[in-house]
Amino acid sequence: MDQHKRTATCGELRRADAGKTVTLNGWVNRRRDHGGIVFINLRDRYGITQTVIGEDAPAELAAAAAELRNEYCIAVEGFVRLRPDSMVNPAMPTGEIEVAVQSLVILNRCEVLPFQIDEETKAGEDLRLSYRYLDLRSGGMQRRIRLRHEAAFAVREWMNSQGFYEIETPTFIRSTPEGARDYLVPSRLYPGKFYALPQSPQLYKQLLMASGFDRYFQIARCYRDEDARGDRQPEFTQIDIEMSFVSRDDVLAMTEGLMGHVFKKVLGLDLPPRFKRLGYEEAMETYGTDKPDLRFNLPLRDFAPYAAAGNFQALKDSLAAGGAVKALVVPAALMTPPYSRRQIEELEAHAKIYKARGLAWMKVAASAGNAVNSGGAGETPLLEGGISKFFTGQEAAIAKGLEAGPGDLILITADAKRKIANIALGAVRSKLGKDLGLIGGAGAVQPDSAGTGADMPEDAAVPGPFAFVWIVDFPLFEYDEEAGRWKAAHHMFSCPQEQYHAALEQDPGAVKGDLYDLVLNGYELASGSIRIHDPELQRRIFSIVGIGPEEAEAKFGFLTNAFKYGAPPHGGIAPGLDRLVMLMAGETSIKEVIAFPKNSFAVNPMDNCPGGVEQKQLDELHLAVKPGLVS
Ligand code: AMO
Repeated sequence: MDQHKRTATCGELRRADAGKTVTLNGWVNRRRDHGGIVFINLRDRYGITQTVIGEDAPAELAAAAAELRNEYCIAVEGFVRLRPDSMVNPAMPTGEIEVAVQSLVILNRCEVLPFQIDEETKAGEDLRLSYRYLDLRSGGMQRRIRLRHEAAFAVREWMNSQGFYEIETPTFIRSTPEGARDYLVPSRLYPGKFYALPQSPQLYKQLLMASGFDRYFQIARCYRDEDARGDRQPEFTQIDIEMSFVSRDDVLAMTEGLMGHVFKKVLGLDLPPRFKRLGYEEAMETYGTDKPDLRFNLPLRDFAPYAAAGNFQALKDSLAAGGAVKALVVPAALMTPPYSRRQIEELEAHAKIYKARGLAWMKVAASAGNAVNSGGAGETPLLEGGISKFFTGQEAAIAKGLEAGPGDLILITADAKRKIANIALGAVRSKLGKDLGLIGGAGAVQPDSAGTGADMPEDAAVPGPFAFVWIVDFPLFEYDEEAGRWKAAHHMFSCPQEQYHAALEQDPGAVKGDLYDLVLNGYELASGSIRIHDPELQRRIFSIVGIGPEEAEAKFGFLTNAFKYGAPPHGGIAPGLDRLVMLMAGETSIKEVIAFPKNSFAVNPMDNCPGGVEQKQLDELHLAVKPGLVS
């Protein structure tokens, strides 16, 4: 190799290098034969350089050039020259020059590719994952993995600048209940005993606070045996953070600083110094979700007063049962052409996925302009279609109250359970955000200019807007209908807000926790809380979720005992690194920002993991697989 070792990368040569003799190493990105003149676009991590083998090339060089196919790994030696003006490619950082090849060595040939390594490949997911090493060569994956590296590096830079220590915690831990299912690791030395892989370093980071480390972080691998989906993987990475002697606002401010630094450093974007905050209840009432996408507005509004005064029985029944009637106005300007019946039915089908019994609707008449403004019904009825006829006499009040103008569509959900009316209409809101292009392309990194991987510009286009919002004041407990008991909404170590401490047991459902989530563009990016450091308060929480003193001692004794030795007040948060990078990259699946992810069935099709093991290994682990289960 020594002889053919590169003296420059494929991304660095410029006009000023003309005349230099260089050696380049890389992959054939594209080979074009223009009647004897062969152009080879040579690619490496740093970019693409055009190399040229002329008509007058010696026979040996011409033969080697003729043999080349895409993805051959080669070394070329030649001299840098300026391209003729008409051949300059402004889309390529190296577009002003080319390398006139004097010698070419094939370092390794490439078999027929299972798919074309394009900028954004069309190959199916399992094929991409089976040949992930090839998929990772694509411009898109190269850029996203670089983005991930830069984001992780910026995180470390910020945390270090703020006095945090990076401390590793074990990945073989004791299995603890709650949350998702654990991945278990059988112990060879202790028959019948298991380690668990951590779902997060939660308990250890709290112990580090008891140990006086004051400010901890870790880019930590976490493992959860739960169904995969776009923003979930069985193994994933958290930016895990814990701080002593802090209140909620300190953790929030530190996280805002972290996000600000990462977005500035990696994307060159200035985030607002403080993010908007929404109470959990307000988020549910206004957006029908605790993960609202605030890149667009479309708020949910209260339709109860109109429903109560109207004649549509289904709405009145929901109110009578103590539920809610909610409305959402889709402005006419966003719907061109106006929504058809079929489109409204599609929205209704979507609402039903979220347990709505239906999606009622009406429209403000397109010709109702003056009537809306004057607040009175003109010649034409102000509301039309759907359930409008049940609101005679209220038309103007409804249009005014909902701030609905001519041609606007009003969508309505009603349910005896307030949460269902909100969540279903919130889901419709999210769908509208996508369907109406309110988030379309926002946040997306644009594909490279040439689209086919022919050219790889140094930097991708700047992504679109990022709408951060804190959701605060979550309920501490949720009622688990199936189990018939209260369970912790976040985890059992989160602190109830002080005003509820005295009367926790009386009405657990009313207790708000010192809990917070950071939401970005409709995704839960981070979650955290101020923790309990008082053993007595911890005992009461265990007791409310049905964990008695013995069970608590057996499962969490190591933590609760630590709290008896002067543990400081503390709190923390954990942003998901995969989700952060996914959103920065404008992607909708975290697989796009993980080098070797699992597919939706928790399988890695490349090495076929999980796989079987030899009987000898099972014997050593004192394990027997139930007959009939092994295929
Ligand atoms: P939580 O369980 O909410 O909190 O997780 C924190 C963040 O981790 C990310 N995340 C995931 N990312 C990819 N795949 C998954 N399966 C997955 N699960 C979670 C999300 C989420 O917001 N110990 C607490 C944090 C704390 O209280 O400090 C915890 O783990 O971005």
